[in-house]
Amino acid sequence: MTTDDHTAADRVSQSDTGDGAPGATAPTIEFRDVLKRFGDNTVLEDLNFSVDPGQRVTLIGPSGSGKTTILRLVMTLEELTGGYIFIDGEPLAYERVNGKRVRLSDKRRRESTRKIGMVFQHFNLFPNMTVLENIIEAPIHVLGRPKEQAVQSAQELLERVGLRGRMDARPSQLSGGQQQRVAIARALAMDPEVLLLDEVTSALDPELVGEVLSVLEDIADTTDITMLIVTHEMQFARDVSQRVMMFDRGRIVEEGHPDKIFSDPDHRRTKDFLSAVL
Ligand SMILES: Nc1ncnc2c1ncn2[C@@H]1O[C@H](COP(=O)(O)OP(=O)(O)O)[C@@H](O)[C@H]1O
Ligand SMILES: [Mg+2]
Repeated sequence: MTTDDHTAADRVSQSDTGDGAPGATAPTIEFRDVLKRFGDNTVLEDLNFSVDPGQRVTLIGPSGSGKTTILRLVMTLEELTGGYIFIDGEPLAYERVNGKRVRLSDKRRRESTRKIGMVFQHFNLFPNMTVLENIIEAPIHVLGRPKEQAVQSAQELLERVGLRGRMDARPSQLSGGQQQRVAIARALAMDPEVLLLDEVTSALDPELVGEVLSVLEDIADTTDITMLIVTHEMQFARDVSQRVMMFDRGRIVEEGHPDKIFSDPDHRRTKDFLSAVL
């Protein structure tokens, strides 16, 4: 039996773990006993949390506390050292089969990451492609969408991010704020269920931050996409997220509603971190 044959068996083992009542909706994202090491450096250990469908969670914490690593694990850009991540109750990169931790096949990994989109600090657009080509590439080549449909949807998305008429531009002809809005449109073109935002305004000149945040606020207001957001923009975090998780050295120090965490945190480390960034 190859790993590709394990889907049904895995569903059985999933329900055997006793998560929730039968028929209950699985969390959109679940980290279970996640361990991540880079060489000897243990970056995440015994990390457990879950995110409900449509919930928007902001991750805060000092540099090096593991926030980017968490997003990159969800995007399967990093290999999990131990533990499991589930998306909609389905394993993302590893699953448990007959008591053993087994790597998912590359094919299943690709399928499980299709629901996930990510926007990076440094945009990561394809520099040799136009704006339009950047956006339609994955819908055509990964989802197999007909080109006409991909183009039409790209045009709608460009309108939405305020870049109507720029589809033939190259990334180098755009401001950082415009490039980041293209990157957001590119992520949305895959119809993600989960959107990962990693300090998406940190590389921008201050006067360009607002245009990117307002696009993201609009997406948060008008869709039910589940979001994991790493940002130092605390007002934005308050406006869009229902939950803030404070990390230090790969562990959750505390979590709660943004009104609570930002105004009246329980932990010294959270207070120190917030006074340093605010
Ligand atoms: N590719 C990598 N190779 C080695 N160490 C890494 C790599 N990526 C991250 N790290 C280490 O993992 C820790 C967490 O990093 P990161 O997730 O980027 O933190 P944050 O995003 O909170 O600043 C840091 O100690 C960092 O040096
Ligand atoms: Mg980071």
